[in-house]
Amino acid sequence: MKYIAKAGNNKTPLQGEIRVPGDKSISHRSIMFASLAEGSSRITGFLEGEDSLNTLRAFRAMGVSIDGPENGEITIQGVGMHGLKAPGRPLDLGNSGTSMRLLAGLLAGQDFDVELTGDSSLSKRPMKRVTDPLALMGAKVETAEGGRPPLKIHGGQKLRAIHYEMPMASAQVKSCCLLAGLYAEGKTCVTEPAVTRDHTERMLRAFGCEVEVENGTACVTGPATLKASDIDVPADISSAAFFMVGASIAPGSELTIKHVGINPTRTGIIEILKLMGADITLDNESQVGGEPVADIRIKSASLQGIHVPEALVPLAIDEFPVLFVAAACAEGETVVTGAEELRVKESDRIQVMADGLQALGVDARPTPDGMIIQGCGPDGTIGGGEVHSRDDHRIAMAFAMASLRASGDIHIEDCDNVNTSFPDFAGLAASCGLDIVVKD
Ligand code: S3P
Repeated sequence: MKYIAKAGNNKTPLQGEIRVPGDKSISHRSIMFASLAEGSSRITGFLEGEDSLNTLRAFRAMGVSIDGPENGEITIQGVGMHGLKAPGRPLDLGNSGTSMRLLAGLLAGQDFDVELTGDSSLSKRPMKRVTDPLALMGAKVETAEGGRPPLKIHGGQKLRAIHYEMPMASAQVKSCCLLAGLYAEGKTCVTEPAVTRDHTERMLRAFGCEVEVENGTACVTGPATLKASDIDVPADISSAAFFMVGASIAPGSELTIKHVGINPTRTGIIEILKLMGADITLDNESQVGGEPVADIRIKSASLQGIHVPEALVPLAIDEFPVLFVAAACAEGETVVTGAEELRVKESDRIQVMADGLQALGVDARPTPDGMIIQGCGPDGTIGGGEVHSRDDHRIAMAFAMASLRASGDIHIEDCDNVNTSFPDFAGLAASCGLDIVVKD
């Protein structure tokens, strides 16, 4: 599938009130924890995107009875910590790194063997970052050459509790270790070098499991059990981010995005955009299932280039494709450093974004750990042209937003993977003013 995002020429504002799909990280975890809990859990607001559906299919294949999803509603009959069954075939997790890394931790503690596979993008992503700590815990997990998928997990191992100092800031690695820790005897702790999203810690508590967190270290004590809990999944701030940037850069915009998760480990995008001069306000703040939510209101603003503070990088790690677009429309230079993790996401997001921005005439220089971008300024435009998303959902959506400030149409190749996190992105975009032609 291909998008043709029509030239907005600075004359197409984003307006109205929208709700973006459910949070991907929380949707994955809701399926995993509800499946392992004792009792029946009801999930609402679930993201019906390919990534979280792959997690759902994996648990169905391991014998869990799951009704739905229907309009984001799911009911799961939990089987308890030791109730999963051998799936009898490899679990194909598609494009989803979160499914593979978290499942590696959970499945290391089962008494059956299982193989985890993925699509061509996932098959290139590093898994040693999870198999190393799992090996320290006594798990037996084989990778293909270079520490890549597929993962072959040999069950029936007795896991040891460890204290793991993570070499990189990764919520997936932290979660993998904590989930394996539920099956180990004693206290498993993970120390992170910088704050990363804490949905695992929050949701484990909602399922009745104690998690201690102090000074960047999170600990669980095994063997643990989970009790069923209902989960209301908020809208995904990472999906809202495209519209936050779009409304900031398109003159005359005023847009409200409803019921968005604003967990402080995810709000780097708001902080970075505000440092650039964005006009963003939060209304109707409340809590759902241990997660803070709010309506986010954005008005267009003249953005300034900045050096993005490195401490904010892990708190906005999925938002850099669209932040690079914001930088291309800002006044002056934006510098991103300390973001080398972007090179091992669904694509090499530094290289792919730099290539695309350059194709649109933007002065964007990739560096090993970030990018230096000269913006066109509030009255300027960027060019139209042809860009490639390299099968990466967030690259496709970022370039669609760039069209709001483009003088010509932007043709974006390979947009099928938008469905992994944001079904009907083009329809929702059209409802608030962004014209995208979808071509099969
Ligand atoms: C995720 C953590 C992040 C993020 C990914 C989802 C999660 O990955 O990029 O989209 O749900 O835990 P890392 O932990 O590898 O940074």
